[in-house]
Amino acid sequence: MLNGKKILYSGMQATGTLTLGNYLGALKNWVTLDEEYECLYGVMDLHSLTVRQNAAEFRKNARSLYALYVAAGLDPEKNCIYYQSHVSGHTELSWILGCFTYMGELNRMTQFKDKAAKHADNINAGLYTYPVLMAADILLYQADVVPVGVDQKQHLEITRDIAQRFNALYGDVFTVPEAYIAKSGAKIMSLQDPLKKMSKSDENVNAAIFLLDEKDVIIRKFKRAVTDSGCEVRYGEDKPGVSNLMDIYSCVTGRDYAAIEKEFEGKGYGDFKLAVGEAVAEELSPLQTRYRELMADKTYLDSMIKMNDEKAAYYASKTLRKVQKKVGLTEKIK
Ligand code: TYM
Repeated sequence: MLNGKKILYSGMQATGTLTLGNYLGALKNWVTLDEEYECLYGVMDLHSLTVRQNAAEFRKNARSLYALYVAAGLDPEKNCIYYQSHVSGHTELSWILGCFTYMGELNRMTQFKDKAAKHADNINAGLYTYPVLMAADILLYQADVVPVGVDQKQHLEITRDIAQRFNALYGDVFTVPEAYIAKSGAKIMSLQDPLKKMSKSDENVNAAIFLLDEKDVIIRKFKRAVTDSGCEVRYGEDKPGVSNLMDIYSCVTGRDYAAIEKEFEGKGYGDFKLAVGEAVAEELSPLQTRYRELMADKTYLDSMIKMNDEKAAYYASKTLRKVQKKVGLTEKIK
């Protein structure tokens, strides 16, 4: 508990521009949570280092991610939005937790296997221990709830295992967090291959909608989206392409699948794809305007970053000190 509320923690990697998958699976759901929870969101720049980055571009992307969080509606006065790399407790706790994590557990991580296959020339130790750093992010703030998309579920499970293992040895040090996965939008698929998740790093530019895509680009990408045989707008396992578009449409309009099927009864895929494209463009338009304003207001963003970095560091230091003491590290002489 923090300030009388349960604690919620999440974040995104600071690589590239966010996709519609990041938005619908995570960010869009976050903006309503600060009434109920004390919310912390990290710009996860240390995690991004597991893949080679161009330094200047990376720095720009991290700031852009911060601005996108705010533009999407997270108020940085009510949500502690900060940079992971600005709070040294993350890496310090990560080392300690690494000594309580088994290689067998890390070997099972599907994200590691996927990324190792994608970056065969750079299978570094950071990629392997990525879930330990993620566990440190979450446990450092004693989070009760972690809202994520489906692809992060396994990382949440290992976080819980590490926390429980540590607690069994040292008493109730960590809150054991629960994953919070939204009912819809938790797995938005590629527009070009609906059996693959929509991802920032897809080589096919038409596979993903980026949050800063212009309206005409969004509509063009939806027009080109792969659909299924037949011409009926219906949700079903045999129709992964149409179902994905229905999922997206449902997230942005709030309509359920039955209502969508009714809306497009007797109409073809062409009308449907155009409607999805227009609805998404409309949803993203205010976010894009706000984003541009924020990126132009250096003083405001800098002041929010500074304030929240300090807040996060304060919370983190409390847990870290407790952990260091429990495992028997010698306290510094004051
Ligand atoms: P990242 O940056 O890959 O993704 C950020 C969030 O977006 C969700 N997401 C999706 N949801 C639906 N459909 C998709 N196609 C899609 N693609 C991505 C992800 O599930 C995630 O919620 N490891 C994390 C970052 C992280 C983190 C943490 C998260 C680091 N430390 C601590 C929570 C708590 C990641 O790579 O997310």
